[in-house]
Amino acid sequence: MREEIINCSNEVTAFVANNESDVEAFRIKYSGKKGILNDFFARFKDVPNNEKKETGQVLNQLKMLVAEKIESLTSQFQSGQQSTIKIDDYTRPAQFDFAGSRHPISIVRNKMISIFERMGFSVEEGPEIEDDWHNFSALNFPPEHPARDMQDTFFIDTNPDIALRTHTSSVQIRVMENNKPPIRSIFPGRVYRNEAISARAHCFFHQIEGLYVDKNVTFADLKHALLHFSREMFDSKTNIRLRPSYFPFTEPSAEMDISCNLCGGEGCAFCKYTGWVEILGCGMVDPNVLQNCNIDPTVYTGYAFGVGVERITNLLYGVKDLRMFSENDIRFLEQFEGA
Ligand code: PHE
Repeated sequence: MREEIINCSNEVTAFVANNESDVEAFRIKYSGKKGILNDFFARFKDVPNNEKKETGQVLNQLKMLVAEKIESLTSQFQSGQQSTIKIDDYTRPAQFDFAGSRHPISIVRNKMISIFERMGFSVEEGPEIEDDWHNFSALNFPPEHPARDMQDTFFIDTNPDIALRTHTSSVQIRVMENNKPPIRSIFPGRVYRNEAISARAHCFFHQIEGLYVDKNVTFADLKHALLHFSREMFDSKTNIRLRPSYFPFTEPSAEMDISCNLCGGEGCAFCKYTGWVEILGCGMVDPNVLQNCNIDPTVYTGYAFGVGVERITNLLYGVKDLRMFSENDIRFLEQFEGA
């Protein structure tokens, strides 16, 4: 029995508890009514007289050991508890909870999305890591187009086929490859360009692409959708103008200006006294692009546009430095309110 008691003492010393119920289980196992200690004491009367002294000593040591162990384990968990709930200064002011606010880019993106949703556009997304086909080739970019240059595009692992998308137009291709017209969708997302970071340029920013493909879609439909968007986004007196431009994937192509939202078109320093500010690129989907997606350009036509979210945010809030949007300065971010 002496051996048994010594083994048991070693177990007690080595025991570790992870929580209070471990401590309670330990207490019941060793010093409970039917516990190990009582069992030893009950069997003690059968120990031969010549061994009683030695056995009694180790048994008493075990009893003390168990009592000490229970005390130290109990205080271990109690002290942990006390330090979290102890109130030592009742005059201390209560702690305030700070509710975060939505990022200005998210606020404006959500507002843009809801305007287009009300016009019947659904929302789709595509990957930020793209292949050459979806970002360039299917969009009718000729092989020597400068946008394919490493200086403008971030390629992955020097594999010229895989890049971070440079615009959300890549999602046009994915959606047209996988759906039959009518298609009326917008594609919000982040895009990447290999630009030196400055107040006016950043290596990533956000766009919302729009695409409408059906029978008899015309340039007038495009113009009407964009006018409606501009008036919802800015104010009901906003005017738009379209200037001829060039994109490989639209024909004809245009850039769109809105009447300056600061001076209402009168001319001010913000619009460089022109009364107009540029907000987006757009055009009729090039027949080659439809063909690349197996949509018959003799049956269907479509329009597309791409708006920069940072650009709209700048116009709405007068944020002049693009870097503010990604610096995470709380003093800047907490000024914006919106869903
Ligand atoms: N993808 C163009 C850009 O990033 C914008 C655009 C989209 C132009 C759709 C025309 C049609 O500049």
